[in-house]
Amino acid sequence: MRTYYCGELRKEHIGETVTLYGWVDRRRDHGGVIFIDLRDRTAIVQVVSDPQRTPNSYELANTLRNEYVVEITGRVTQRPEESLNPRIPTGEIEIYADTIKLLNCVGKQLPFQVSTADADPVREELRLKYRYLDLRRDRMAQNLQLRHQVVKAMRRYLEDVEGFIEVETPVLTRSTPEGARDYLVPSRVNPSEWFALPQSPQLFKQLLMVSGFDRYYQIARCFRDEDLRADRQPEFTQLDMEMSFMSQEEIIELNEKLVCHIFKTVKGIELQRPFPRLVYAEAMERYGSDKPDTRYGLELVNVSDVVKDCGFKVFREAVTNGGIVKILPIPNGNDSISNVRIKPGGDLFKEATDAGAKGLAYIRVRNDGEIDTIGAIKDNLTPEQKQEILRRTDAKPGHLLLFAAADTVTVNKTLDKLRQVIAREFGLIDPEKINLLWITDFPMFEWNAQENRLEALHHPFTAPHPDDLSDLKSARAQAYDLVFNGFEVGGGSLRIYQREIQEQVFEAIGLSPEEAHNKFGFLLEAFEYGTPPHGGIAYGLDRLVMLLAKEESIRDVIAFPKTQQARCLLTDAPSVVDTKQLKELHVASTYKPKS
Ligand code: AMO
Repeated sequence: MRTYYCGELRKEHIGETVTLYGWVDRRRDHGGVIFIDLRDRTAIVQVVSDPQRTPNSYELANTLRNEYVVEITGRVTQRPEESLNPRIPTGEIEIYADTIKLLNCVGKQLPFQVSTADADPVREELRLKYRYLDLRRDRMAQNLQLRHQVVKAMRRYLEDVEGFIEVETPVLTRSTPEGARDYLVPSRVNPSEWFALPQSPQLFKQLLMVSGFDRYYQIARCFRDEDLRADRQPEFTQLDMEMSFMSQEEIIELNEKLVCHIFKTVKGIELQRPFPRLVYAEAMERYGSDKPDTRYGLELVNVSDVVKDCGFKVFREAVTNGGIVKILPIPNGNDSISNVRIKPGGDLFKEATDAGAKGLAYIRVRNDGEIDTIGAIKDNLTPEQKQEILRRTDAKPGHLLLFAAADTVTVNKTLDKLRQVIAREFGLIDPEKINLLWITDFPMFEWNAQENRLEALHHPFTAPHPDDLSDLKSARAQAYDLVFNGFEVGGGSLRIYQREIQEQVFEAIGLSPEEAHNKFGFLLEAFEYGTPPHGGIAYGLDRLVMLLAKEESIRDVIAFPKTQQARCLLTDAPSVVDTKQLKELHVASTYKPKS
């Protein structure tokens, strides 16, 4: 029987005989004395074996290799002065191994060193292929422990303090329109019909409010077939919540308390409440983003009104065509950012054009105060216009002003990207800072130019702002996102709970009454049976844990993630299946491999 986990042993245990189980993290032979770092999920403890003091274990200790699995019984002993190790929690003691049982050995060469002592970076593909070994490593083990602590704190707070209950919702379901592609599952017993895996439990949680559950939560797996990035996985986990009879203010307050509880319990950090807020329009104006990283300044400046009639065609036409001209002012940018980087072929030029911009105009304020700029600005802006630009951007000697002129979406996207690149390059981001920020008053809809129709910015169940009902198409939504250091970690809204308004919203996004009835008849019908006012939110658990763990990818806080190509390297999924299986499912492939 195990008496302790390795990481529990301290000075207080000196003199006790203990039984430990674990893996050999490292074995060292110091002139006939064998030291084994024994590792389990808690930590490492040093085990000692030598022919004099532990004759019974010595022979076996000598044969141990990294990652062998052992049972060790021995005496907890004070380490001699010279071998104290303050870097590990068990560094004051060691175990004299009376007996060692080999439970299993390693039959093959390890694909990479697992030992915590080995900090060598390992290729991610290799880590993912042998994920079970990767998860033995300290960093991954810590991340999963942290994830567990976060979920535990969520459950404790929601259940014990706020009276939420967890309800499971189906995974085989109809698709909910959250904006991504669905993962589909063919039905064997209903030929030619398909389930969709849920992009979120949105409709079910609303129906639970109709049922009167009042406060629901779920740690819910969601599936979205979208392009992957460091903060996106095809299957990910939400903390999903829904509440009845609460205003937006009350929902936000409850959620701030939840987030404070999580930070306090898992990190010991006291956050200040209330969290800052920005309305969507202001966030877009000042940062070009609805998830701005407010740990640093570099705010954007709109000069559309200054340049709308100017002689420089690019600026003038951007504004007359309904677009804007904005500037990213970069203090001390003049010296450190050369023209080569801003002009075609340069890295900043590429960032801008990748975001859709055609180029990057600039003004430099040299250290002596002289202005240096492109010919088109020099020749086509009046001295007053130049002065106003410098005044508005508060440009001082050493400033570099980068311009974007295009439609509003492109300008914001371009300068948002450049703002982030520059902040990183100039070291403006304090990694210890925690900036949590609510973005509110999103527009209900945005224009989908490809499909030539409005689409819901959050989802079509979001309630419009009561002051904006007369013009639904340009209405603000009663929606709120929580942004953490520039990442959207949560989003939610008050919901529509009246059939007529829900029908109007479906119409606004181009759903005919028949389509609306076919897809959401069950919801519209439910609205007729006494639906309470309700609202909710969902947090991206993986993103939240990634930020708390100071990792750069959510793959590092998910036990078995997919690659950027949406593959599981460990099980080699997705994979081809038997033709027999396909037949049973009435499915045939139309795929033709490229020859
Ligand atoms: P939304 O689509 O904003 O809202 O999702 C909520 C949160 O989930 C996280 N998230 C993701 N995390 C990892 N990989 C992904 N592919 C991914 N997509 C989203 C984000 C996001 O803020 N039903 C609504 C919530 C509601 O209105 O209550 C919803 O799903 O952190």
